[in-house]
Order: sequence, then structure tokens, then C-alpha cells
Amino acid sequence: MLPRRFVLALPALVLGTPRSAPASGPIFTLGVASGEPRPDSLVLWTRLAPLPLEPDGGMGAAPAELGWELAEDEGFQRIHRSGRVTATADEAHSVHLELDGLPPGRSFFFRFHARGEASPVGRTRTAPAPEHDGPVRFLAGGCQNWEHGVFTAWAHAAREPDIAFVFHYGDSIYERAGRLPGASGVPVVRSHQGGDCLTLADYRIRHAQYRTDPDLQSLHAAHPVIASYDDHEVENNWAGDHSQQDGSRRFPRLVTPEEFAPRRAAGQQAWWEHMPVARAARDGAYRRFRFGRTLALHVLDTRRFRDDQPCGDGGQTPCPAAFNPQAQMLGAAQEAWLREGLSHANARWQVLAQQIFLSQRILAGDRRSMDSWDGYPAARERLLAMLRGRDCAVLTGDVHRAWAGDVAAEPGGAPVAAEFVATSITSEGDGSDMQRGAAEILSRNPWLRFHSNHRGYTRHEACGDVLEARFMAVPFVSRPGAPLLEAGRRVALAGRPGVVPG
Ligand SMILES: [Fe+2]
Repeated sequence: MLPRRFVLALPALVLGTPRSAPASGPIFTLGVASGEPRPDSLVLWTRLAPLPLEPDGGMGAAPAELGWELAEDEGFQRIHRSGRVTATADEAHSVHLELDGLPPGRSFFFRFHARGEASPVGRTRTAPAPEHDGPVRFLAGGCQNWEHGVFTAWAHAAREPDIAFVFHYGDSIYERAGRLPGASGVPVVRSHQGGDCLTLADYRIRHAQYRTDPDLQSLHAAHPVIASYDDHEVENNWAGDHSQQDGSRRFPRLVTPEEFAPRRAAGQQAWWEHMPVARAARDGAYRRFRFGRTLALHVLDTRRFRDDQPCGDGGQTPCPAAFNPQAQMLGAAQEAWLREGLSHANARWQVLAQQIFLSQRILAGDRRSMDSWDGYPAARERLLAMLRGRDCAVLTGDVHRAWAGDVAAEPGGAPVAAEFVATSITSEGDGSDMQRGAAEILSRNPWLRFHSNHRGYTRHEACGDVLEARFMAVPFVSRPGAPLLEAGRRVALAGRPGVVPG
């Protein structure tokens, strides 16, 4: 194996000249997916990759033709629509088929054909009609570290009945180099292939490795997924134009915005290539969905448009820079888009689907996480000003623990919304009832009303005046076969901002 600097310097030598013909063997190794459910449209996804862990997926440089079918029945006797689509090398032979003109609230089955092979069958559904006033069930999850465990939680999620969508908040890959089992820290259950992800080829291989997982494939074949990204799709704690490597004592090497730009672009492109996301959302993934009159889902992008973390990032006692009134988390354009969307949203529940902790969270020694909204209090106050007086719930991830709490502008202030934080699918390995130190955080932050240190996802149901969160847990991820348990239940009630026991 060549040292990494040669890999960077000599990509043509290492990656080889483009193969002249696609490799033989099964071509749908990464499964199928669907997403972006709207009353009249959906995105269907697959990627052709006979050799998923090769930079080109084993497809070479030539385009490839696929057939596709959308059927009303699992046996594909009643074909609703069918056609052909071309996959090209510049998008890693991924397909993002954007279908419109579909009927609302309908389940469909879909599959692709290429080279005489049929893909696995996917199941999906359009969002309900605008006048729908009934319950909407959905799931939230993310933080799926390949090395920290098996994705049993996603296999359970795939079996959940009657799900309108799954919100995947991000950390769909982790960008760091493979570690060997026995390395210190969280036990490594299975290793990443390759070094740190830096180039488009690196990120493609990493996403493809994750997509070979049968439990992840089962999730995407079962429900439409509304995907966003967090930091690990590019680099831990990146912020807007800024790499985490900022020349500080913690990260002595300075990576300038100019140097960081191609890495960020590579990470974002590979994320899009592997997600059932419409072309319009490939760079900057904020967008809105509506599920009848029951809920409006505002998907936020808290990475791409933010200012750099203040006070040196990490857990810090806030320094003056944290109180900069101009600090941006969403950026001015996204803030204006959200304000406009909330003012016109005639759905009972406004749900923010985002990534990072919104509630006040005071850590030991009065420290705060500068990467979360606690590092951007002025931007949080502007956000909460938009939410006041509305029935609002916030979906969050990132911290690898399940939490629920009241969101307020000041510690202990009047609640504005309920926040439900999904735990990780695997990140940080086998869990426990309580994280070390969590009891102290709960007593220091009495507006945080639930905690669980188990891995899993959250199952939600919005129905009338109640928006419910059930924290679903798997007791272990270091080996397959974990059962599904319920770690707790909390709800939000219309007209009463915040979280109450279920
Ligand atoms: Fe994570």
C-alpha cells in the first residue's frame, strides 16, 4: 500500500485508468431507496455498483441505462408507471428519479432493471392530500457509525407499520480512517475501509461501504427517507466555510477555507449521490414538506451556512464572541425562508427537523457546547421568536443520547417548543440506561425532562392536539439480534409549549 501522500499526489496511478467495461457480477449491491414524499411526487434512488468498494463502483466511465417500474402491488401486476433512465459516471452511476403527478396518500412498490438483473423491491408512499387531518406516524434517527456496531435498530425501523417518512438527521457516514478491532475507545465491531475521507473517491467508497449493510438497505426499501446531513458527511464539526482544523492548539494544522472547499464539495456530492434527495437540495439541504393539515416539516441545514464555532469550539465557558448578535447558524437566506414558511403554514404542528441541540444545556463547570445552538444564542433567539405562539416540536440528533426537553431562550425561561433528541443508531456502541454524568446534567438543567443512553431511534405520531415521541431502544449493537424495547415516552400538547410525560 502506498503512503497516503502518494495516493493524494498520484490519483491517476492509484485509481487506475477508467475501466473499459463494467465489472461483471450483481449490479444492485447497494439496494434501493425512496424519499422526498410529497402529495404528488417522490424520488426513487439506486446506484449501480458491481464493485462497491472500488472508486468507480466497478462501472467504468460509460453511462448505463436502467429500466424502472412503479407498481400498486408487490407482485408488479398493476404497473402504475414505468420508464427508462440513464446513470452517469459523474454522479457515480446513481439514479435520482424525480416522479411527479402521483396520487396522494398512496403506497407503491418500485424496482429497477439493468443488465438483465432486477433490483430488490422497495416500498414507498406519497404524502397525504392537503386536506388530510388524521394521524401521521414518522421516525427520526441518525449517527450510524459503521465501526461502533451493527444497524439492528434500522432493521426494526424497517418493520414499523404505517410510517409516512423517516427523518435521517445525518452522520450517515463517519469520515475517519478505519481502526483495527482492539484500538482504544469504543470497541470496533467492523472496520472502515481506507484512510480519512478527503477526496470524492474516498467519500464514495465510504458511503458505498455503509450502503452494503443489509439492515440499512432494509430501512431504505421500507419507507421514504427525508435525509439531511450533519458534520461527519464532511468532517467532524465543520462550520460553513471552515474546517475544524483551525490552527489552534487542538488542531495545529491550519486548513484555510480555500483548502477546505474541495473537501466539503466532495463530501456533499457523495452524500447526495447516496441519498434519495432531489437534485434541487444537493447543496444546502433546507426544504419543506407537508403532511396534510396535521404537520408541516421544515428541514433545516445547520452546517452549510453557519459561522465558525466561537470560543475555540468544544465544551467551553462562553466567551464574548458567543454573544455576537450577528452570529449566524442558518444564514440570513434560510432564516428568511423559515420565517416565510412558518407564517403561511396552515398545519396543526410545525416540526423543525434539524441536527443539533436547541435547548439550553449547561454542562459541568458552567460549560456549553459551542457546536450546538448554545454557541449561537443570538441566532437561537431569532429562531425562537419565529416559533413563539405556534405548536412546535423540534427533532434533533448529534449527541448520541436520547433527550427530551423544553426549548427556551434563557435557562429556565418560558418554554417555546418541545425538543425530542434521537439517540444514535450505533455511535458510541452498546448503551446503558444512564450516561455517566447525565444525572448531574438533568439536575442542572431541569427543563431537560428525559434521558436515555441506549442506541435506537424515535417513533413519533402527530394526532390532533398530541405529538408523541417514543424512544425506541436496542440493548446492544456489538452483535446482531438485539430486541426492540421502549426506553420512554414523552409528548407535546397543542397550546402548552414544552414536553410532558406520556
Ligand atoms: Fe454522530
